[in-house]
Amino acid sequence: MTTVSMTVNGKPVSADIEPRTLLVQFLRENLRLTGTHVGCDTSQCGACVIHIDGRAVKSCTTLAVSCEGAAITTIEGLAQGGTLHPMQEAFREHHGLQCGFCTPGMIMAAIDIVGRRGGELDEQTIREELEGNICRCTGYHNIVKAVAAGAEAMAAGRPLEHAAE
Ligand code: FES
Ligand code: FES
Repeated sequence: MTTVSMTVNGKPVSADIEPRTLLVQFLRENLRLTGTHVGCDTSQCGACVIHIDGRAVKSCTTLAVSCEGAAITTIEGLAQGGTLHPMQEAFREHHGLQCGFCTPGMIMAAIDIVGRRGGELDEQTIREELEGNICRCTGYHNIVKAVAAGAEAMAAGRPLEHAAE
């Protein structure tokens, strides 16, 4: 066992874990943050995307011990006092989900895209950038619309999640 400490959604956490523990296991099993999903065992689906120090990362291929001292944000950390993050709101508004299994990873990836590429995203850019996120309900049309709208809302001055990290 080894001790790992990090900040998750603004709260300091510390635990004794097996060195082989994946970050997604740590979040789901130790911290009970089950909004981060596991949708494959090949690092392809993106259901497990979270942010480490403000950057989107697949938590199924990250060792928890490698996050010592890092600031982690999961889907549970986006809403502020009952107000959804603009990207969450955009997914709701534009029906960017069907079963919802891929949605947390899509939203975390989308916020990262805005952080890197800005708020004016065309369809091709969004589709290329979401290459690492699979929606098995194949609802990409509305997901793309939601990401574009969420990006615009974020750029319009509503709080950027990256800025808080
Ligand atoms: Fe991480 Fe599929 S569970 S990429
Ligand atoms: Fe079902 Fe994407 S909404 S997997």
